[in-house]
Amino acid sequence: MTEHSLPAQPEASSWFRPHSAHLAVGDLVLLVTSDEKRYLITLQPRQEHHTHQGIYVHDDLIGRAWGDEVRSQLGYAALLLMPGLHDLMSHLRRGTQIIYPKDAAYLVHRMGLRAGCRVIEAGTGSGGLTVALAWAVAPTGIVYTYESRIDNYQLAQRNLERVGMRPYVQCFHGSDEDGFQQKDVDALVLDLREPWRFLEQVRASLRPGGFFASLLPTTNQVSELLYGLEREHFMDISIDEVLVRGYKPVPDRLRPVDTMTAHTGYLVFGRPVTKKVDATLWLAKERQRYRARKQFEAEVAAEAERRAIEGNPDGKKYPRLPLPG
Ligand SMILES: C[S@@+](CC[C@H](N)C(=O)[O-])C[C@H]1O[C@@H](n2cnc3c(N)ncnc32)[C@H](O)[C@@H]1O
Repeated sequence: MTEHSLPAQPEASSWFRPHSAHLAVGDLVLLVTSDEKRYLITLQPRQEHHTHQGIYVHDDLIGRAWGDEVRSQLGYAALLLMPGLHDLMSHLRRGTQIIYPKDAAYLVHRMGLRAGCRVIEAGTGSGGLTVALAWAVAPTGIVYTYESRIDNYQLAQRNLERVGMRPYVQCFHGSDEDGFQQKDVDALVLDLREPWRFLEQVRASLRPGGFFASLLPTTNQVSELLYGLEREHFMDISIDEVLVRGYKPVPDRLRPVDTMTAHTGYLVFGRPVTKKVDATLWLAKERQRYRARKQFEAEVAAEAERRAIEGNPDGKKYPRLPLPG
């Protein structure tokens, strides 16, 4: 497993330096044009940004106030806004499907991430979730991210660099089958196809009671993960789906937008507890009832079979067994 080398004392990202009221060289700017396009650009002397509405010259933008309106050489207007996390995630170059901001936001919320936390993530993909995790734990925390494909590993680093989150992430090229190098991390997220295969590695690196989460697109994957979590002594399990519906900002005719992104994925959460804990006590009540019913049915079937074998003429009658608790 290889790690991208980091300087001993990484320079803090511009996100954590005091912001001036005016745009400066190196600033990330969201340029919003009147044809509802949004561009994320890093201001550099003598650079130009080409759009369908003409060219915006960086030197004309440097020194302007945030929130100002500027014009292209064709006379089209654009707004100069400070980008938010949503804008950073929406402008990443993609080599894989990247997590939707709504799902990333909920993951960060449910795992209680805050400045100073240490988080492991696999796989990195294009770095979409990595950006959101780094945004939450920076400037004093760190994200350790693992990716098995070299092209995605490299792409994610470029993306992180571009949006100023690189100082808060250590990237590893390798599979999490080999385990993670860090121990006692606060949270661990798996965004890959078969997370249930890596739960032992998760246990080995996540502190007891820490936050585990995984994002999966189909229900059969979720079921597989639930069996795995039960086997590996993860408790406090929950599954959520996040639906966000946008509205047209027209005060006199307020209504939802016509289309929405409905299903993106299921978010599964769990906490590893010590193996001393009696797992059966902590299963969801519905799960306990289901297991008891299945056990009862199996006992009934076994008893019926036993009676049939003994040649009991009344063998079809079910025995009177106690009902489950
Ligand atoms: C769905 S993508 C992750 C997308 C990412 N969360 C984002 O927002 O950009 C899944 C990634 O996991 C990687 N992957 C699959 N199996 C892996 C493994 N065993 N170890 C590390 N990475 C793995 C894949 O190469 C792929 O890049």
